[in-house]
Amino acid sequence: MKVLIADKFEAAGLDQLNEMGCEVTFDPELKEAALLGALGKVKPAVLVVRSTRVEADHLAAADTQLKIVLRAGSGYNTIDTATAKKRGIKVCNCPGLNSTAVAELTMGLIMALDRHIADNVNDLRDGKWDKKKYGKARGLKGRTLGVVGMGQIGQLVARRAIAFEMDILYYDVIAATEFDKMACVQRVELDDLLKRADIVTLHVPALPATEGLMNADRIAMMQPHAFLINTCRGSVIDEPALVQALKAGKIAAAGCDVYAAEPSSTKADFTAAIKDLPNFYGTHHIGASTDQAQQAVGQEAVRIIREFKTDGTVLNCVNE
Ligand code: MLT
Repeated sequence: MKVLIADKFEAAGLDQLNEMGCEVTFDPELKEAALLGALGKVKPAVLVVRSTRVEADHLAAADTQLKIVLRAGSGYNTIDTATAKKRGIKVCNCPGLNSTAVAELTMGLIMALDRHIADNVNDLRDGKWDKKKYGKARGLKGRTLGVVGMGQIGQLVARRAIAFEMDILYYDVIAATEFDKMACVQRVELDDLLKRADIVTLHVPALPATEGLMNADRIAMMQPHAFLINTCRGSVIDEPALVQALKAGKIAAAGCDVYAAEPSSTKADFTAAIKDLPNFYGTHHIGASTDQAQQAVGQEAVRIIREFKTDGTVLNCVNE
């Protein structure tokens, strides 16, 4: 069975695919037109991607041999699932395995903003000592964290924040019953959360219903000292509205790992206006990128391919 891997992939997983008799083509740099060419040439049964976008023309170029597009991660907003469905191609994902990694980065961004860690480091590298400027922080103990989306990642963030003695407000259509019993946790409506939280952190999937969820009106509900954290998907924030709010000091700061327009290559220019703001800390969509998470995702991808190769079973299909 031919497997085309058009993204970074864990080495042990590659060995396992070869051992089970798959004919693997591995080229992490395949994007856009190059991916079109490779799909036509290799004619894989399984295409594995991570950040690489899979559009309608890729699915057409793959012809009828392509049975599965496998996203080595949870989100699949970079894959044209509707066209895949029309063509009888299953899109599968590896959910839940990098949630801890995303929660860890979320806490990192919260702490980095509170203590201005990136600016501290930059100034120290430039030989500037400024304890007066950097010796100011609100601190996290007793502050209120607003978790928007209390699924697996939201819950992992809440647990970590509780360990920091923070209070939690959460908004979700589904109750997180285990948390509802805790004195430091309260389930509230979104507007209430935005008005009361010191830090708002977003953990919802990229869906039509969540697109632009944090628009100008909702950002305006937040407190002037508040931080907005986004480690879920760029589409959830109206990014120009966030830029305006940060420039005008409507909120104190934002920390994001994801953006409205992200390069699909691992190395590229990044020109989004938000990057230049002093009260913005951004990372390079690395939430899922710990060794632990990538090993787990790689193993799940191998399991999905093995099941399909063995008897045609398709696991974790998201476009049925
Ligand atoms: C995910 O959807 O699981 C992550 O965004 C994966 C990634 O960083 O590529």
